[in-house]
Amino acid sequence: QEDIFKNVVSHAKEYGFIFPSSEVYDGLSAVYDYAQNGVELKKNIREYWWKSMVQMNDNIVGLDAAILMHPTTWKASGHVDAFNDPLIDNKDSKKRYRADVLVEDFAEKINQKAQKEIEKARARFGDAFNEEEFVTTNTRVVEYLSKYKEILSRLAKGMTDNLQDVKALIEELEIADPETGSKNWTDVKQFNLMFGTKLGASADSAMDLYLRPETAQGIFVNFLNVQKSGRMKVPFGIAQTGKAFRNEIVARQFIFRMREFEQMEMQFFVRPGEEMQWYHHWKETRLKWHLSLGLGKENYRFHDHEKLAHYANAAADIEFNFPFGFKELEGIHSRTDFDLKAHEQYSGRKLQYFDPELNENYVPYVVETSVGLDRMFLAVFATSLQEETLEDGSTRTVLKLPAVLAPTKAAVLPLVKKDGLPDIAKKIIDDLKWDFNVAYDEKDAVGRRYRRQDALGTPFCITVDHQTIEDETVTIRHRDTMKQDRVKISELRAIIEDEVSM
Ligand code: GAP
Repeated sequence: QEDIFKNVVSHAKEYGFIFPSSEVYDGLSAVYDYAQNGVELKKNIREYWWKSMVQMNDNIVGLDAAILMHPTTWKASGHVDAFNDPLIDNKDSKKRYRADVLVEDFAEKINQKAQKEIEKARARFGDAFNEEEFVTTNTRVVEYLSKYKEILSRLAKGMTDNLQDVKALIEELEIADPETGSKNWTDVKQFNLMFGTKLGASADSAMDLYLRPETAQGIFVNFLNVQKSGRMKVPFGIAQTGKAFRNEIVARQFIFRMREFEQMEMQFFVRPGEEMQWYHHWKETRLKWHLSLGLGKENYRFHDHEKLAHYANAAADIEFNFPFGFKELEGIHSRTDFDLKAHEQYSGRKLQYFDPELNENYVPYVVETSVGLDRMFLAVFATSLQEETLEDGSTRTVLKLPAVLAPTKAAVLPLVKKDGLPDIAKKIIDDLKWDFNVAYDEKDAVGRRYRRQDALGTPFCITVDHQTIEDETVTIRHRDTMKQDRVKISELRAIIEDEVSM
């Protein structure tokens, strides 16, 4: 699994998807840049989300609030006082870790050990293998799995809120520094995750601000502006995508946990008392959206929170099977009227909705869906990256991205660099580029060009050859099956459209 993850990181760099930020200065930890192909894939994921949320729902509208907000926002939201992570330092290595993540990763490692034993046994016993019996009788696997479940249940019960408890658990499990193996830990401390900055030039007039740690608050403070100017009726939603910043303490998780990342959030405003019905609606709707990408049903699971944040009366994560195990991809939270009430209290303004059907004023309840765009990118990219053994025994690397998300939809390739073939290829591109991202490539043998497009995730390769001159046909090669068809140039648009549209 570690190898798979390393492959993902190096493929992302080699093929122009993701670079470390400011790499000429050796990079900046947990900050990344999206390169020429990454920016397209990221944009397509964002659009796929936006269309399904805003375009397809006549009661959801968009918003693009500023990253900088009045500092009282973060007092009201609870972030100034409570947006903390429990941190622990290793006294020998001086490395700093998130205590809860240290425990979580340890648990995941035990689980992986158990799964490895299961796979080994399956390979040994073949058809005679009975997994149910094995996991209840093999002493080693029984021990791993029961320990794994116990740690998870202790984490789920919010054990990490009590700093002494986390420290005790780290000692009890004898968790070592993943990099150095040392078990010499300090106490656990709380650490606020918001980045501070200043507004204004002069020292005395400057105002302390924060870079937003979530996009949601921009939606809450605009709730009434949008409702009134858009004449929105409850239930309705406001959707937003944008950057958020958290001073995360991270250990090499690539774009899974970043300090600057992008969220895609939607707050759905409902009548008090109707929130649970909407909470279940959005849980199901969001899972369906994920499944529509075709990355495999088995790669998703819900994790219902046993312990709830102070503002929530129900919460669940959609977890995805990342190369390092199942982890949170999206959160669905029933946030009650906590945020709007808090902004009323701190601002002294009413944030109430007049419900014409009930003929009364109230502060709506909110159901929130919140997904990390970068985590979506990682889920899609890592799952799509596959190493295939072909019939002739050779291997190919292919990025089987959902066609709707692929950065480039088709590459147009002249078989040779002469006889007017490049000109025909360029004419085809000039025609298709109004509708799709298309690329041109004339370098190397055509087989190598196919492989390169496979690695970039391009669903189609269109090859112009000498027959094209005679009858205006080309070959179109499908990335996943590698099948080639001979088609008319005039048919290309419809063939591509059919595959890449939502
Ligand atoms: N408004 C609710 C909220 O912000 P969250 O669970 O803290 O909830 C929502 O974040 C989503 O944002 C997560 O499910 C995850 O996909 C993404 N996310 C959070 N922190 C992240 C980070 N440091 N790097 C990348 N994505 C992150």
